[in-house]
Amino acid sequence: MKRLAYISAASPDLELADMEAILDSAIRRNGERDVTGVLLFNGLNFLQILEGDASTVADIYSRIIADKRHSGVVTILDEPADKRIFPNWSMQLAIVPASVGTLPAGMQLSKNFLEGLPPAVPDHIRLFLTGFNSMSRLEFA
Ligand SMILES: Cc1cc2nc3c(=O)[nH]c(=O)nc-3n(C[C@H](O)[C@H](O)[C@H](O)COP(=O)(O)O)c2cc1C
Repeated sequence: MKRLAYISAASPDLELADMEAILDSAIRRNGERDVTGVLLFNGLNFLQILEGDASTVADIYSRIIADKRHSGVVTILDEPADKRIFPNWSMQLAIVPASVGTLPAGMQLSKNFLEGLPPAVPDHIRLFLTGFNSMSRLEFA
């Protein structure tokens, strides 16, 4: 198994409906393929963690990289994993506060996401997730 995390820049015209479509296909496809993880969105950037069979995660990641609803995908973690951190989440979305700009219309902040993280989240992953909240705008070429 492997665990992979990336950060990307959301398409500037991303709407609530795009987010719903992303989440629908993520939950369906990850569920079929036994991939789990989290997807954070702060109005500007995504941070996603994917975990599962190494070749399955690589295949899903290559689709994600090509997705036009975001750009500038930068891998921030790629590590072997002997067990899952998020066994119960085929893809858990968390909308976190935007430090710059606003959330797309109709998007609601997720309540208590950080407080509700599974206790088994290791420190290096917890740092990504808590630090993302305070990240200011990142733009990638
Ligand atoms: C930020 C972001 C996160 C995504 N996460 C996933 C994911 O975890 N799993 C997945 O299968 N597709 C994910 N997608 C969607 C894929 O890029 C692609 O649209 C999808 O795999 C196509 O599947 P479908 O044709 O079955 O709907 C994500 C897309 C974006 C923009």
